[in-house]
Amino acid sequence: MTTVQQLDPGTRRYTQKIVYELANSIRERDIITYEHCRRVGVYVNRLASAVGWSRRAAHGLALAGLIHDLGKTWMQNELLHKDSALSRNERNQMERHPVIAARILLTYGAPDSLVDAVLHHHEAFDGHGYPDRLAGEDIPYSARLLTVADVYDALTSERPYKHALDDATAFEHLRTMSGSCFDPAIVAAFLDLVEKRPDFRLMPRVSPLPLPPTPHPAWVRHDVFDLWY
Ligand SMILES: [Fe+2]
Repeated sequence: MTTVQQLDPGTRRYTQKIVYELANSIRERDIITYEHCRRVGVYVNRLASAVGWSRRAAHGLALAGLIHDLGKTWMQNELLHKDSALSRNERNQMERHPVIAARILLTYGAPDSLVDAVLHHHEAFDGHGYPDRLAGEDIPYSARLLTVADVYDALTSERPYKHALDDATAFEHLRTMSGSCFDPAIVAAFLDLVEKRPDFRLMPRVSPLPLPPTPHPAWVRHDVFDLWY
């Protein structure tokens, strides 16, 4: 399997450029999804480093985090912005988002590692996830890392239909779902990391409520390139 860090420098730069442009397209479509992806990119970068990945490999996974919900931008407005529970049919449509994102990445010739992390970020450790119902170690390790970072941010974010959980409650959820939704070793590493770093949680920078259009906020353009802090 080709990973981002194994690419020659020119191809790596091309991959990074494509990912940043796709991240910009997410921002143009829905700032809430973009901000979620940005935070997940930062969290998964830290988590991958904590489990021993090299700086370059962790950054490669951060790129996957930055666009992991790209497929949601192809959902209809009524679905993307729905502020109540989804019907079964709507949930089926929404659950196509990892496949849509993977197809887009394949079109650009993205490396397998990037495609696999995005495609499988909703698999569950006991096999009840989607799209392929993979279980345990059949789920790419990168995707298992991404899942924990993704769910932590989803739990701790304010949304029109739910309040943000405090860290203690979010950690309890992660512990409860360890082994069913998540790789237990990764949950343990994540909790250990957060304990060592009290400033782990990134503060939201936009309201979850509808915003007036902001055509070119300079901070966003700059920030897409900063996945390290
Ligand atoms: Fe997702």
